[in-house]
Amino acid sequence: MAFSFYTFIAILLFLLSIIVRSSEITRATNNDSESLVAEEKALMETGWWSNYSNKGVHHCTWPGVRCSPAGSVIEVDLSGHGLNGSITPQIGALSKLKCLNLSSNTLRGELPSSLGNLTQLAVLDVSYNEIHSIPLEIEKMENLVSLNLTRNLIVHMPSTIGLLTNLTHLIMTSNPLQSIIPPHIWNLNKLMTLHLGNCQLYGSIPPNIGKLKSLVNLHLSSNMLVGPIPSSVNNLTNLVSLVLYGNQLNGSIPQEIGRLTNLTTLYLSSNMLLDLSK
Ligand SMILES: *[C@@H]1O[C@H](CO)[C@@H](O)[C@H](O)[C@H]1NC(C)=O
Ligand SMILES: *[C@@H]1O[C@H](CO)[C@@H](O)[C@H](O)[C@H]1NC(C)=O
Ligand SMILES: *[C@@H]1O[C@H](CO)[C@@H](O)[C@H](O)[C@H]1NC(C)=O
Ligand SMILES: *[C@@H]1O[C@H](CO)[C@@H](O)[C@H](O)[C@H]1NC(C)=O
Ligand SMILES: *[C@@H]1O[C@H](CO)[C@@H](O)[C@H](O)[C@H]1NC(C)=O
Ligand SMILES: *[C@@H]1O[C@H](CO)[C@@H](O)[C@H](O)[C@H]1NC(C)=O
Ligand SMILES: *[C@@H]1O[C@H](CO)[C@@H](O)[C@H](O)[C@H]1NC(C)=O
Ligand SMILES: *[C@@H]1O[C@H](CO)[C@@H](O)[C@H](O)[C@H]1NC(C)=O
Ligand SMILES: *[C@@H]1O[C@H](CO)[C@@H](O)[C@H](O)[C@H]1NC(C)=O
Ligand SMILES: *[C@@H]1O[C@H](CO)[C@@H](O)[C@H](O)[C@H]1NC(C)=O
Repeated sequence: MAFSFYTFIAILLFLLSIIVRSSEITRATNNDSESLVAEEKALMETGWWSNYSNKGVHHCTWPGVRCSPAGSVIEVDLSGHGLNGSITPQIGALSKLKCLNLSSNTLRGELPSSLGNLTQLAVLDVSYNEIHSIPLEIEKMENLVSLNLTRNLIVHMPSTIGLLTNLTHLIMTSNPLQSIIPPHIWNLNKLMTLHLGNCQLYGSIPPNIGKLKSLVNLHLSSNMLVGPIPSSVNNLTNLVSLVLYGNQLNGSIPQEIGRLTNLTTLYLSSNMLLDLSK
């Protein structure tokens, strides 16, 4: 008729064990301690926090490191911290990283191919360093929105850049590309800012430029570009600044530019354009 005392205790213990186990599972999923340890190890192996790594201070409090509430590293900003040498491949273990700013250091060599593991990365700023190459694996950073490579030593833009279709900002001013305008960028239809000034670019500006309908800022100054300004700039209705000075562009200034009603900055000087007013 009634449960015995011992049955009651047995059921109670059973229920208790379920509660404990499920809370363990929740904790493990919310805060995968194994990957957090791997992240701390990766930070140590960069050598950038050698002053901090052995003093029992939690890595989320190291300078320039920001973590999510769950303890994953989501931002690293060590701009202007005197970093030198190459970027260690272990950086690829920071799988939740959203923003990496290494601007204004003296980092050299290649960007490591393990950067391809940073699929959550939205912002990558390695401007003002001495980086000379970009890995093909950059294509895996599918959430990348902003890429700033200003003033490095990059000689080649991998074709896979064309797969980063979420990019809105591509800033590469002052790199010795010595090529035509990299054709793969015509796929990047969300681009709002494209800076390729002072990159030793030659050849003409192709009509494809009209495909980049979201462009707000187009800077191609101080290159060796020849031929006309294509009339397809007509399609760039959001353009606010068009900076083309210091090339060898010829022909007349396309009338279509007059329809770009948002344009406030137009620099065309130091080219070989015809002056129609004469
Ligand atoms: C690390 O320690 C060295 C020597 O003690 C010091 O010069 C340097 O500024 C420290 N770096 C940081 C990031 O605190
Ligand atoms: C996850 O772990 C970090 C670091 O150990 C800790 O600060 C944080 O409170 C934990 N978060 C959760 C939700 O358990
Ligand atoms: C990176 O840091 C530099 C220096 O603090 C800053 O000017 C720049 O805006 C930062 N980059 C991004 C993408 O926030
Ligand atoms: C890199 O920086 C460290 C620490 O500031 C310094 O000890 C080392 O000599 C530097 N290496 C090079 C190659 O400049
Ligand atoms: C990057 O991912 C690959 C597999 O996708 C893995 O083999 C490699 O160890 C990862 N690298 C880092 C630094 O996490
Ligand atoms: C672009 O971003 C969206 C939303 O974050 C994502 O679903 C998509 O996979 C990303 N990649 C590409 C290449 O569109
Ligand atoms: C690099 O470009 C991004 C996007 O335009 C910008 O936010 C950032 O401030 C730039 N970095 C520097 C050092 O100017
Ligand atoms: C410019 O836009 C028109 C209309 O949307 C389109 O038919 C044409 O192909 C575009 N030109 C280029 C070069 O993208
Ligand atoms: C011009 O700028 C205004 C205000 O920023 C914006 O609403 C509009 O969409 C832009 N484009 C055109 C073609 O007017
Ligand atoms: C512009 O320059 C190219 C060579 O760079 C030449 O073939 C073409 O005839 C020139 N066009 C005009 C209108 O001067």
